[in-house]
Amino acid sequence: MITPPSFPFSRLRRTRAADWSRRLVRETHLSPSDLIWAVVVHDGPEDRIPVRSMPGADRLSVGALAEAAAKAAKLGIPAIAIFPFITPDKKNAQGDLALDPDGLACRAIRAVKAQAPGLGIMADVALDPYTDHGHDGVLDDVGRVANDATIAKLVDQALVLAEAGADIVAPSDMMDGRIGAVRDALERADRPDVLIMAYAAKYASAFYAPFREAVGSASALRGDKKTYQMDFANVDEALRECALDVSEGADMLLVKPGLPYLDIVARVKAAFSMPTFAFQVSGEYAMLKAAAANGWLDEDRAVIEMLFAFKRAGCDGIVTYSALHAATLLS
Ligand code: PBG
Repeated sequence: MITPPSFPFSRLRRTRAADWSRRLVRETHLSPSDLIWAVVVHDGPEDRIPVRSMPGADRLSVGALAEAAAKAAKLGIPAIAIFPFITPDKKNAQGDLALDPDGLACRAIRAVKAQAPGLGIMADVALDPYTDHGHDGVLDDVGRVANDATIAKLVDQALVLAEAGADIVAPSDMMDGRIGAVRDALERADRPDVLIMAYAAKYASAFYAPFREAVGSASALRGDKKTYQMDFANVDEALRECALDVSEGADMLLVKPGLPYLDIVARVKAAFSMPTFAFQVSGEYAMLKAAAANGWLDEDRAVIEMLFAFKRAGCDGIVTYSALHAATLLS
């Protein structure tokens, strides 16, 4: 970089002085096209069921979800990420319901496709909504999450979701080798066009707590997820995770959580030049909502500023519960 002439020949306030010149030199841009709307669906008749720790991010019925999805598409949001709330009576140790072609996730995908055909649908691949122990995979005899046995299940789950119409399957489980297994299975099933968004660098995080309430896995979860999700102290390991997922056939990389991990986003984008996304997770949403509810910050301004931070760090897009809100503000 050339050294700018010193003051007073350089006055950086000159370009900041007016709205027109600020807009002219703006380096980063944000539009509804950058957003993937994260939303939880439930199986009951109520259109919306509030989630205590996520005000405004209600669980929607399948019908209400389809309608809301059409609204999202109209606002210019390109894709939606659907997460199912499964009632405790439907969970078991194997997470069998994850493989049901008529399960809630698949029905929600079909309903959204019917009502908003142009909207991309991303479906989470992991067993945690379906297991009675709350882990993302199946357990071995001594209670550890079994990597390879879990992969076999995830592959079937991904195929069922793709069959239902998911455009993007998103393994969020952090098993080793699952991206390659899912890619291989999609090829064999003659579904070469299905995208894989790899939750490549997903950290064991306190910021998922409200989500676990929203999908009903909080009370189920025994222990923590530290044997498969990453240690938040690590960077090199995130790059190795990403390298493996790219080599196994991932189309897009996701870093999660979002805002506290923008250093990882910047490193991943620089290292791989891949479509790179971050998940602004439930805990980030909850913090924003709590501060806004107390009048401690202006939610509208904070939402936009945070989403810009993701873009500035190198994100091509952001998975967020605030997508509808942000898209409305942007339009
Ligand atoms: C589960 C999954 C989680 C989230 C998305 N998929 C939680 C977890 O790993 O326990 C978190 C989403 C959020 O907090 O908003 N595989």
